[in-house]
Amino acid sequence: MLNQREHWGSRIGLILAVAGNAIGLGNFLRFPVQAADNGGGAFMIPYMISFILLGIPLVWVEWALGRYGGERGHGTAIAVFDLIWKKPFAKYLGILGVIIPLVVVVYYTYIESWTLLYSFFSLINKLPSTPVSDGLQDYLKPFENFLASLIGANSSSEVFLNPPWYTYLFFVITLLLNLYILHRGVSAGIEKVAKFAMPTIFIMAFLLLVRVFTLTSPEGRNLLDGLGFLWNPDFSALKDPKVWLAAAGQIFFTLSIGFGAILTYASYLKPKSDIALNGLASASVNEFAEVILGGSIAITASVIFFGIAATQQIASQGAFNLGFMALPAIFANIPYGEFFGFIWFLLLFFAGITSSIALMQPAIAFLEDELGFSRDKAVITLGIFLFISANIPIFLKGALDELDFWIGTFSLVIFALLETITFVWILGSKKAWEELNRYADIKVPKIFYYILTYISPAFLIVILLWWTFTDLPTKLVPNNINAWIARGFILLTVIIGVILVKIAWEKKNGRTSS
Ligand code: ALA
Repeated sequence: MLNQREHWGSRIGLILAVAGNAIGLGNFLRFPVQAADNGGGAFMIPYMISFILLGIPLVWVEWALGRYGGERGHGTAIAVFDLIWKKPFAKYLGILGVIIPLVVVVYYTYIESWTLLYSFFSLINKLPSTPVSDGLQDYLKPFENFLASLIGANSSSEVFLNPPWYTYLFFVITLLLNLYILHRGVSAGIEKVAKFAMPTIFIMAFLLLVRVFTLTSPEGRNLLDGLGFLWNPDFSALKDPKVWLAAAGQIFFTLSIGFGAILTYASYLKPKSDIALNGLASASVNEFAEVILGGSIAITASVIFFGIAATQQIASQGAFNLGFMALPAIFANIPYGEFFGFIWFLLLFFAGITSSIALMQPAIAFLEDELGFSRDKAVITLGIFLFISANIPIFLKGALDELDFWIGTFSLVIFALLETITFVWILGSKKAWEELNRYADIKVPKIFYYILTYISPAFLIVILLWWTFTDLPTKLVPNNINAWIARGFILLTVIIGVILVKIAWEKKNGRTSS
């Protein structure tokens, strides 16, 4: 017997929950690093084009597939692909829509726990303080050491990380908080948290924005230098495929498309709900948070304080360097810096947790909808899986990057292509268009019919081919054991997924034939 599926309580709650799903560490940590590392203004044109040609259409695809499944009692791509393709293998392709968010959340929750720890350390004034100095390295060194000691990267071992006990404690607290919200359910848990967390994120971001906009440097740099870096377009970069890949990759990550997580959220829509306007509204809120807030805080502060060349250098050295090193170094040198540091990391934590619960929900939906688990049983099962798996990125050097490349980057494009094919080619482009416009509160411009049918799939295929011929050959044969362990873990997760799907369908078929 299927469980009675839950629904979102209100439209505003739904939009905030889906915006919370999308707005995450990607907006405030990943976007500034990607933008700075790819030339600032040079990055923004491919970014905007990718938003229109990939972002908006794929957001609609996920919403539409989700509503389609929800109306039939299912909340994951596994069942939705099965319903649309009507071929036994299709449900196994849909497994990606549960495995991707599940594997991403294994390391995402860990990084999220650092933000909680950093905000706590800011509050009790235990982050390093840096002396005002001429050299960039003097500013950053104490924060580099701090991050290294926090994740246990300063041990002499080539293979193992050795984080201190409090890092582990903060991870456990973060995981338990996530599980607690999920155990409360879609409306009383996820939606309620989004209604509180999203406005709080915006208030904290505005506070930081005001502070950053009033920064100046002894060399005379100010707000205009910071904003100019991102907003002076550089058309010459349009010729560089690397910038296009980075921009498209960021669109995927930030909008949570190709994860299967928006699909699951959309499956909890009330009957006769619009998806065209809701999808567009939540994507727009995400872009505002990313480009206006995410882009103006870390990049602007760093450009004002350190200059453009140094900011690019910081960004090129690592995905966490702007957020976890440059910003706290700046805050350590301004009045009430602990307070702003606290706000910055708390903002990251709120943004992170509203995304991590979304990444966990597809697994819950699968266990509930297809295996008939009660919510509590599903949450406990998920908790045990995450608690065990998280030890891979926590203790094995390089495992986090390996999981992020294969699952958090490469698989997103593959799964997005599968979703698009399912929606526009298998369901059929005319039916897909009708599906998108069913109960729509806006008239979707007809040009999106052509974008969805031809341009988005072509764009995805080009990205995949480009990766296959450029990045993949360098990644295929890693020379460290941890990368192989991370791959073994991914494979094991897929095998478990296949077995569970097989069991679920055998049970269902047994029920229908008896
Ligand atoms: N979309 C989520 C983020 O930006 C995953 O962090």
